[in-house]
Amino acid sequence: MLKTIQSVTEMQQCADELRRQGKRIAFVPTMGFLHEGHLSLMRVGRRIADELVVSIFVNPAQFGPGEDFETYPRDMDGDLDLCRQEMVDIVFMPSQSDLYPNTYETTVRLDSLPNHLCGISRPVFFTGVATVVTKLFNMVKPHAAVFGEKDYQQLLVIRQMVQDLNLDVEIIGSPLFREPDGLAMSSRNNYLTPQQRPAALSLYRSVCKARELVQSGISDSAQIISEAQKIICAYPENEIDYLSICDMQTLDKVETIDRPVLMALAVTVGTVRLIDNSILEPGR
Ligand code: PAF
Repeated sequence: MLKTIQSVTEMQQCADELRRQGKRIAFVPTMGFLHEGHLSLMRVGRRIADELVVSIFVNPAQFGPGEDFETYPRDMDGDLDLCRQEMVDIVFMPSQSDLYPNTYETTVRLDSLPNHLCGISRPVFFTGVATVVTKLFNMVKPHAAVFGEKDYQQLLVIRQMVQDLNLDVEIIGSPLFREPDGLAMSSRNNYLTPQQRPAALSLYRSVCKARELVQSGISDSAQIISEAQKIICAYPENEIDYLSICDMQTLDKVETIDRPVLMALAVTVGTVRLIDNSILEPGR
C-alpha cells in the first residue's frame, strides 16, 4: 500500500522507525510529472532496498527569475498512479512553506563544479539543487539515493557535496533514458509542439554524429563541436546555450579526445530548454 506523507516531522519519524527495524531505505528525489526516466530510477531503488521513498517537490530555489517555476508541469494524481505501479512505499510531498519558511536563510553552494555548462546560464540552479537535496536527505534519511545521468552535472554536484559534507548516503547514477525516437526523457518534452519535435531530435542526432566521428578516429574537439553545431543550427528555432566536450570529473574543456570524455549540450527549442549528453570514447 502506497503511503503519502506531507509533514517533514512525520517523514523523519517514519525514516527513524524504518532504520530501527533494520530496513534499507532507497530514495528517488523528483519534481514530479513522472516519466519513464524517473521510473527507471525507481526500479533501481526498488532493487537495492527494502523501502523505496520518492519525493515530489517542485523546488523554487533552483529556478531563476523568468524560468518556468510557475508553469512547470504538475500532475499529482498521475504521479501517484505511477508510484503505485512501481511499488513505491512512500511518496513524500512536502509543502513549500515547510521547506522554506519565511525565516529560512541557509544554502549549500559548491565553489567550482557549478561554474560550467548549465551553471553558467542558470546561476542559482545548483545552489538550489544542493540545498534542497541536503534538506531532503535529512528528512528521508536514505541509505542510498538514485539520480539520472541525463543531469550529468547535477549528479557530479551531488556526489561532490556528499563527499565534502560527509553525508552518509550512497549516490547511485542511473543511465539516461530515451524516448523511442531518441529524445532524452524530460518532463519539459511535454512543452514541445509536434512541429518542434524534429528540431528537438537534433540534440540526439548531434550526439550520435559526435560518437561516430570519435569512434572513427577524429580526436579534435573543435571539429566535432562544429559538426554537431551544424546539425542543431539547421533548425532556426534552435538556440544553443552550450555544446561542450569536457572532462568527465572536472567538466573542464578538453581539446584533444585521448580518453573517454563527456559531450554535453543545452539547446532552447522555441521556448523549451533541453539538455542531452553522452560519453565519447576514442576508437581503437
Ligand atoms: O532532478 C531533479 O528533478 C531535481 O533537480 C531534484 C534532484 C529533484 C532537486 O529538486
